[in-house]
Amino acid sequence: MLNELSCEISGIKFKNPLILASGILGVAPSSIVRLAKAGIGGSTTKSIGPRTRLGFSNPSIIEIDDGTFLNSVGLANPGIEAFIPEIEEIKKKTSIPLIVSVFGDNPEIYAEIAKKSELAGADAIEINVSCPHAEVASIGLSAELTKEFTQCVKKAVNIPVFVKLTPNLANIIRIAKAAEEGGADAIVAINTVRGLSLDIETGRPILSHGIGGISGTAIRPIGVRCVYEIYPHIKIPIIGCGGISKWQDVLEYIYAGATAVQIGSIFSRGEDKIIEILDGLHNFLKKHNISNLQELKGKSHDYDDELEAKPKFLN
Ligand SMILES: Cc1cc2nc3c(=O)[nH]c(=O)nc-3n(C[C@H](O)[C@H](O)[C@H](O)COP(=O)(O)O)c2cc1C
Repeated sequence: MLNELSCEISGIKFKNPLILASGILGVAPSSIVRLAKAGIGGSTTKSIGPRTRLGFSNPSIIEIDDGTFLNSVGLANPGIEAFIPEIEEIKKKTSIPLIVSVFGDNPEIYAEIAKKSELAGADAIEINVSCPHAEVASIGLSAELTKEFTQCVKKAVNIPVFVKLTPNLANIIRIAKAAEEGGADAIVAINTVRGLSLDIETGRPILSHGIGGISGTAIRPIGVRCVYEIYPHIKIPIIGCGGISKWQDVLEYIYAGATAVQIGSIFSRGEDKIIEILDGLHNFLKKHNISNLQELKGKSHDYDDELEAKPKFLN
């Protein structure tokens, strides 16, 4: 698979670097099948837990500005047993890599769901320790817990394990390093950014749950910054995520150090975005005579020494 947009993460080959982000299209296999037909390089499922979980009541997602959303879906999902046939169906109907996102009450439950997902056909596991409106948020704030949960899942499966980080802390580098020490095969950065939106007539929080997670265009500089900060400190690949709506945004993430990207909220504007982004990247590479997008990975760090405020990466 040697094309200009192909990439590889821990032995998994992606025909292009665009991967569906977790949770955006709910849990129906048909959505992933549709995106696969539309040309996406890989897909991530909704985060799946041990049992059916209804999540928070409506309103649980609102568009706060054009292309920027606030959600507190609350990890609504059918539970792993009900989801196994869905994984099998997605695998049967698509040929792109499938990443199953998992969460649970403790490391052993994460590991159990990961194992069941592997047996059902998952190509990789993504550990969600970062949803800002669920209990799992506290795992991703602690380097020790992140390492422990990662180790436990790694021991249970034979497929690559990705760890998805939260931006809602001062030092994301510590957590990325802890995930790598725990055996993670890749880092996904970032999950949504904690936020709040209030009704101007009453002052009441608009979402039923109150505080939620911001996604979409407004968070892109936060995601790019997180990838940029993490990149010099770890050896495993990074999958950038947050606020991608056009091909230029993908380039920013690649320059910051990402190998691939996940995209989510932009699908509220339709799946044609995939072809638009792929075409834009293709034209850019052609214009600059670059044979593979990966040649641009981490390029922003060429300038670290000459910036007026030389980046002082936290450790
Ligand atoms: C409605 C909704 C549901 C989400 N559900 C999950 C989830 O189940 N697990 C997870 O790790 N991230 C979840 N996310 C976060 C996204 O995967 C992604 O990290 C975030 O939306 C930033 O990417 P974007 O700006 O391209 O949407 C969800 C986001 C939204 C908007």
